[in-house]
Amino acid sequence: MKPKVFVTRPLPPAVAKLVASKCDVSVHPEDGPMSPEQLAAACREVEGVLVVGASITEKVLRQASKLKIVANCGVGYDHIDVAACTARGIVVTNTPGVLTDTTADLAFALLMAAARRIAEGDRFVREGRWQGSKWELLWGRDIFGKTLGLYGFGRIGQAVARRACGFSMRILYHDQLRPPEAVERQLEAEYVDRESLLHESDFLSLHLPLTPETHHAIGAAELALMKPTALLINAARGQVVDEEALVQALQAKKIAGAGLDVFEHEPRVHPALLEMPNVVLMPHLGSATAETRFKMAMLAAENLLAALEGRRPPNVVNPEAYK
Ligand code: DGY
Repeated sequence: MKPKVFVTRPLPPAVAKLVASKCDVSVHPEDGPMSPEQLAAACREVEGVLVVGASITEKVLRQASKLKIVANCGVGYDHIDVAACTARGIVVTNTPGVLTDTTADLAFALLMAAARRIAEGDRFVREGRWQGSKWELLWGRDIFGKTLGLYGFGRIGQAVARRACGFSMRILYHDQLRPPEAVERQLEAEYVDRESLLHESDFLSLHLPLTPETHHAIGAAELALMKPTALLINAARGQVVDEEALVQALQAKKIAGAGLDVFEHEPRVHPALLEMPNVVLMPHLGSATAETRFKMAMLAAENLLAALEGRRPPNVVNPEAYK
């Protein structure tokens, strides 16, 4: 008998076909959120769940007594109660690697858009406000030669550094873990302490996972250390930044602007940010390209199938579940 699985959103046809060839699949038919009750009911009888965006909480797990694998379609898994899964021997997997460059592209695009006022310029033209040339029209900030601070220097942070090399930027980083020296040398990236990173960066780009330790890693005290000309870029997780403190720092001109793909209370965006022309806003699209979303779905499916076939999935985030 095929194992029962539940998928929280429709998958690309080739991935759906692969999963259906080995499992008895039910799929939430809409590309939208599910209520916790719906999700709990859908997981009650299944051995595997392939999660796209939905939150797997203790409450869901309590009813899912047959569950063996939670295969997350995404690299961040802060919406999954990993400790509760581990306690029940449920394996959790994610999809690292396949979205690294795509997310780094988006972070760099936000940096460029915020520095060169791309969104503002677009609105200016569309709204018919371009009446002729003006010497001082929408002046931005240079990117080349400036200092880029990477807070978090894992896969995505390093991929942003690779892009910054092409812009002759000085690259600083701070992270709990330091990569091998060869990586620092190749990217010409210099490790600095947190205060120096905040103080010296012209662009501060966040690449931290969301954990209890990184929640509000950027708050009023950190923003106060930044240059008044600096731009903050966040394509990591919204809760890494205290959004209220960010609004206040922007209003008080403690920093010059921001490029944000993620927000503290998605999909709600702080109303003050919506009014600020010096802030570029995106609806959490870091990994959103057709190629990358396909690779993420396929990798999530491979993780799911491996676990259900009794193999160790390639991307286990809680190896303790096996003990
Ligand atoms: C991730 O992979 O964590 C992204 O945020 C999902 O798009």
